[in-house]
Amino acid sequence: MRIGILTSGGDCPGINATIRGVCKTAISHYGMEVYGIRSGFRGLLDDDIVPLTEADMTGLLNLGGTILGTSREKPFKKRSNPALANDKPAILLDTIARRQLDCIVTIGGNGTQKTAAKLTAAGVNVVSIPKTIDNDVWGTDISFGFDSAVTIATDAIDRLHSTASAHQRVMVIEVMGHKAGWIALYSGMAGGGDIILLPEIPFDIHRIGDTIINRLKKGKPYSIVVVAEGIPTIGGKKAAQYIAEEIEYETGFETRETVLGYIQRGGSPTPYDRNLATRMGGHATELIATGQFGKMVSLRGATITSIPLAEVAGKLKLVTEDNDLLVQGRRMGICFG
Ligand code: F6P
Repeated sequence: MRIGILTSGGDCPGINATIRGVCKTAISHYGMEVYGIRSGFRGLLDDDIVPLTEADMTGLLNLGGTILGTSREKPFKKRSNPALANDKPAILLDTIARRQLDCIVTIGGNGTQKTAAKLTAAGVNVVSIPKTIDNDVWGTDISFGFDSAVTIATDAIDRLHSTASAHQRVMVIEVMGHKAGWIALYSGMAGGGDIILLPEIPFDIHRIGDTIINRLKKGKPYSIVVVAEGIPTIGGKKAAQYIAEEIEYETGFETRETVLGYIQRGGSPTPYDRNLATRMGGHATELIATGQFGKMVSLRGATITSIPLAEVAGKLKLVTEDNDLLVQGRRMGICFG
């Protein structure tokens, strides 16, 4: 079999480990040929495709980014001018046929899963692997990239405690996550955040102010506030700036903000992400070898399995009130807004 592999959407640690898991298993275990499609789905539009060999896999396990490059190309997205037909799907299908690719492995987040489902509906054999630091892909408990981002964010939060205490300040740190609060919840709890704000949970700035003042009364004249980038703000302000200004106004505390940004997407994957990526990559190849297409590889509990793409596409996995880490945080007196 000849399989094409592409990486699409935001990059994250672990993508190269996934490419390695797919390729080494496909080539050495199943005797397949593997072709790398560059820059996400754009590589199928531009016929930018290169053969991948086992030799190309050397050094990938711990390498950040993606050797194939990525893009946010959405080939099935309708043109802004309805009068113009979208000829991208036809170009995709023509490239796949001309290159005689028997299956396409897509590695990506929500947008990629949506495109993978449409490609499946167009008659292409697709197996998809969830990838995102946001951990918001429906149907899998964890996506690789998430543990690495939480590790980076937690290290940053750890470092804020000493400077907050030294200056008796409130330190606000903004983490990524798009519309989901998973990184904020997991890094906020791991980093000892006193206040953790998620897009999924409405917050009241007066309650936040009371929490900070009550900590002062208990002899803790500083606080750590972890905010997800997707929380609602006013005037188009970024989350950290908005919350820091509101806190300073509400409490009179000196407040400073840090936006962690793309550092959460950089560098080498954690051992957990390397092994999750390897397991998912291998399972994708098993699905191909057994002719199970139109599926996304997923982690359910401790088990690697798969779920039909039709059940995943268009859905978001968000933090819910019954999440046990959130429930435990509330019981410990952590303020979630
Ligand atoms: O989906 C991953 C992510 O890092 C989000 O957390 C963030 O909001 C978004 O990508 C940033 O998008 P871009 O890389 O296009 O600036």
